[in-house]
Amino acid sequence: MVAAPTPPAPIVVASNRGPVSYRRQDDGTLVAGRGGGGLVSGLGAIGTDAGAVWVCAALGEGDREAARAAGRRLGAADTGGHRVRMLDIPPDTFAAAYNGIANSVLWFVHHLLYQTPLEPTFDAEFRRQWAAYEAYNRAFADALAEEAAHGAAVLVQDYHLTLVPGLLRERRPDLRIGHFSHTPWAPPDYFRMLPDDVAGQVLRGILGGDRAAFLTHRWAEAFAECCASELGAEVVREDGRAAAVRFEGRTTLLGVHGLGADADFLRRRAHEPDVEERMAALRAQIGPGRRAIVRVDRTELSKNIVRGLLAYRRLLEERPQWRGKVVHVAFAYPSRQDLAVYRDYTATVERVAREINSAFGTEGWEPVVLHVKDDFARSLAAYRLADVALVNPVRDGMNLVAKEVPVVSDHGCALVLSREAGAAAELAEDALTVNPFDVEATARALHEALLMDPAERAERTKRLAAAATALPPARWFLDQLRALGG
Ligand code: G6P
Repeated sequence: MVAAPTPPAPIVVASNRGPVSYRRQDDGTLVAGRGGGGLVSGLGAIGTDAGAVWVCAALGEGDREAARAAGRRLGAADTGGHRVRMLDIPPDTFAAAYNGIANSVLWFVHHLLYQTPLEPTFDAEFRRQWAAYEAYNRAFADALAEEAAHGAAVLVQDYHLTLVPGLLRERRPDLRIGHFSHTPWAPPDYFRMLPDDVAGQVLRGILGGDRAAFLTHRWAEAFAECCASELGAEVVREDGRAAAVRFEGRTTLLGVHGLGADADFLRRRAHEPDVEERMAALRAQIGPGRRAIVRVDRTELSKNIVRGLLAYRRLLEERPQWRGKVVHVAFAYPSRQDLAVYRDYTATVERVAREINSAFGTEGWEPVVLHVKDDFARSLAAYRLADVALVNPVRDGMNLVAKEVPVVSDHGCALVLSREAGAAAELAEDALTVNPFDVEATARALHEALLMDPAERAERTKRLAAAATALPPARWFLDQLRALGG
């Protein structure tokens, strides 16, 4: 790794997880792994000679070593040509900010995940973690203030970095600052569970930017309502929709950019030999002539995997005609395993899948095929052969699986989709939408999806794919830049 020269950047992106991560191999060398996702392909759209810099956190020991070895910027060869600055935040501070506040408080609040008789409890430990979150946000604001050229556009991502826009504005009033929330936003009655000063800091932090953008109008409205009820801010409406928030003499514009699937990448990747191989393996597991109900998720509390399994169980109980004729292919990939509640959830998913298999399985038929080891090629294989896709989060900023399946589906796939996923705002017409808490209704929707006439299914899949790709990552990214005046 060679430190790159460091001219100030006209475009700066900030996110907790960056486009590259490092791991030390057994032979002692550090190897770089490239990240995927909308932001990486979005940034690709402006090319590497645009002089953009991406500021992210070192997530583990490998990253920290790489960041220290590189000095200010990582070598461009490791990062797909992007200039990346990885912040070496002290491990305790990082853990308290990331696991403590971002993943256990802000994520829970926006996805309405608390079981309120027991949680949350905002105690001294929470205060320690909040101080770490502030320090972590300050580290980002300091680095961004160093990296950004005069008048640069700075795109700050997600709930990890809510304080950054305000902190950065104090340091660099010349910058054009946007914040993007990839999650839902909590309704005011839920948001106000946060201690008043913390709720105020989060809102004021984001309002420190010129724009606050969201994946759907629903989340933008919720944010505006929180600003009105918690801060007494004024919400400016255009055509009935929240368009800006005025607070303490400043105006922050609200934006909506519904990130879509990356069709070119997906269609190409889904036809590579490793995907074909996995399709053959999956077909063998499913068995000839059987239908496949597919789900692919991180084992994330908001994804509602357990109720999905219960709905499938109900389908088999209530409609015995499907026994032996259908397989639920469920991929539940590990996520946030540092947190006990995620480990417990993973164990519950495995237990419920086992129970269904022992209650209904027969010699030649395994009703649930559960895979818990992350494998992107296998996910694509499942997308291609799915007859039904089950996407039933209790709440989700967007949900890209719902958008990716129709894009790569081989023979059309019926989509059972939670009305609480942001994607439902764009896909509801051709999906079978469900209340994710209603297991009976979800079971009925699975039945209906399995019965859907193949020609209708193919037609709907075509329309779903068109809607899902309306705003591909490159345009999603450029739209935000343009809206900031970049
Ligand atoms: C999902 C969410 C993003 C979030 C990310 C964090 O992709 O949609 O809003 O930033 O998870 O995941 P991580 O694995 O970095 O905690």
